[in-house]
Amino acid sequence: MTWLITGGAGYIGAHVVRAMRAAGERVVVVDDLTSGVTERLPADVPLVRGSVLDRELVARALAEHAVTGVVHLAARKQVAESVAQPIRYYEENVHGLAVLLDAAVAADVRAFVFSSSAAVYGMPDVDLVTEATPCQPMNPYGETKLAGEWLVRAAGATHGLATACLRYFNVAGAADPELADTGVSNIIPMFFDRIASGRAPLVFGDDYPTPDGTCVRDYVHVADLADAHLAAARWLTGLTAPRDLTVNIGTGRGVSVREMAELVAEVTDHPGPIAEVAPRRPGDPARVVASAERIATELGWSARYDVREMVESAWLGWRHHQSTLR
Ligand code: WQD
Repeated sequence: MTWLITGGAGYIGAHVVRAMRAAGERVVVVDDLTSGVTERLPADVPLVRGSVLDRELVARALAEHAVTGVVHLAARKQVAESVAQPIRYYEENVHGLAVLLDAAVAADVRAFVFSSSAAVYGMPDVDLVTEATPCQPMNPYGETKLAGEWLVRAAGATHGLATACLRYFNVAGAADPELADTGVSNIIPMFFDRIASGRAPLVFGDDYPTPDGTCVRDYVHVADLADAHLAAARWLTGLTAPRDLTVNIGTGRGVSVREMAELVAEVTDHPGPIAEVAPRRPGDPARVVASAERIATELGWSARYDVREMVESAWLGWRHHQSTLR
């Protein structure tokens, strides 16, 4: 099998490339490098620079590399940005997916892994979110991920594609410092950024209906996430008839923002104050924690790393990245 990995030069994509290569899979990457960086890729991984919106470029990459499977990660993924630019999000995340799927079907690709998100659930009012929990996305980003799943499943059913939709919960950490998330749009790098500038991390609200009043999330190590993609790819290629599998990728364990602040302070030797309470951020659910039962049953996958390892590896990556900026 040769896998086309879109967005393979990104934070998550580079981890997926590394895991699939380590398992002996052949890969080729399409990435427009708007957020990905080539240094994350092994030198011998073919990189086709461009967007999935460019059908000719995608068709050429699929043909030249005799691609038989696709892992689609390339997308815009910032919630606040999606509220400000909904048309761009639907264009890139949904239309881009449609162009890619059309080219994949024409190239007789047989397996398709789609990067979805816990954002499809919106504000689930359950202790553990299962794949049967109603999907009520709260923002254009989550909407594009749910619409993307609908499109992937419909294309799979009509054109005989075996498909897997992977609903990421909160991804963190780094398998190696040079693969770390260099964006500052999620809690851990946002906390590091505050500490690096001598300020206390901000806790967006401490009056939620949770044990310590702060929001609870299910953090999953990006190395575990990458392994889940490999497991999904192997599952798809082992099928005797096309099917869809939609699964949560999480640990089943919730961590509160305050707990995260305490852990970050400990790992970074931050003298404190550990956190400063700020107003709630609009649209934040109090609790989003995955049931990871289905992925364990169907793919034999479960998370290996805990949140301390996520913070420690993220901190090493943060310091590595800061050293490259000097
Ligand atoms: C986590 C918690 C914040 C920063 C989003 C997307 C989701 C996925 C992950 C792509 C929240 C709180 C944060 C800070 C804080 N992305 N927080 N102070 O919002 O759970 O999920 O990113 O798939 O789809 O929706 O992640 O890291 O932004 O926030 O208190 O400085 O930390 O309020 O409760 P989120 P996050």
